[in-house]
Amino acid sequence: MTMWLATQGFETFGIDISPTAIEWAKRNAEVAGLRCEFTNGDILDYSNYPSDAVDMVLDGNVLHCIIGDDRAKLFQNVRRVLRTGGYFLVRSVLSPVDDKLPSQYRFDPTSLLLFHEDVAYRYIPTFEMLKSEVSDAGFNILGSELAYDLAVGRGFQYGMIEAST
Ligand SMILES: C[S@@+](CC[C@H](N)C(=O)[O-])C[C@H]1O[C@@H](n2cnc3c(N)ncnc32)[C@H](O)[C@@H]1O
Repeated sequence: MTMWLATQGFETFGIDISPTAIEWAKRNAEVAGLRCEFTNGDILDYSNYPSDAVDMVLDGNVLHCIIGDDRAKLFQNVRRVLRTGGYFLVRSVLSPVDDKLPSQYRFDPTSLLLFHEDVAYRYIPTFEMLKSEVSDAGFNILGSELAYDLAVGRGFQYGMIEAST
C-alpha cells in the first residue's frame, strides 16, 4: 500500500515493529525504484512523529493486532499525527469467526480474542463494534464496507472503514 501510494505521487512512509518486514519493504521499494520511507517502530509510540503532520494514516492490517487499552492509545496517536480533516483508513479482521481455524488457533467469542498457541494475538470485533470504536475515538466515519477475504482461506470477514478527523 505504501508503495502504491508512492506511485501515485504521495510522500509515504511505512512503520512495522518487525525488522524483517521493514527489510522486505525496503528491498521491494528499491527493486521497484520507488522512494518510500520505511521505519522499524511501534505504532503505539508515535513520539518520533510530529503532530498535525500527515494527510492520511493507513492501517495495513495492524489494528486487529492491537489488544485491550492499547487500542485507545493507538487511536489517540493517529488523531495526533493527522492534520485536521486528515483521513484514517482501517482494514481489520472481523467477527463472526467461523470454524475453519487451523488447530493451533482458538477464538474466544466472549473476549473476541484470537489465540495462537495460547497467546492472544488478534482482537476480532464485529463490524458494528469496530465502527463504534472508531467513532467513539473521535473520528467521523465517511464510509465503510464489509468483505470476505477468501485469500486468507479461513473465512474471516474483513471490514474497511474510511474516517476523518
Ligand atoms: C497482519 S500483518 C500485516 C502486514 C502488512 N502491513 C500487510 O498489510 O500485509 C500485521 C503486521 O503488524 C505488525 N505489527 C503488530 N503490532 C505492531 C505495532 N505495535 N507496531 C508496528 N507494527 C506492528 C506486525 O509486525 C505485522 O507485520
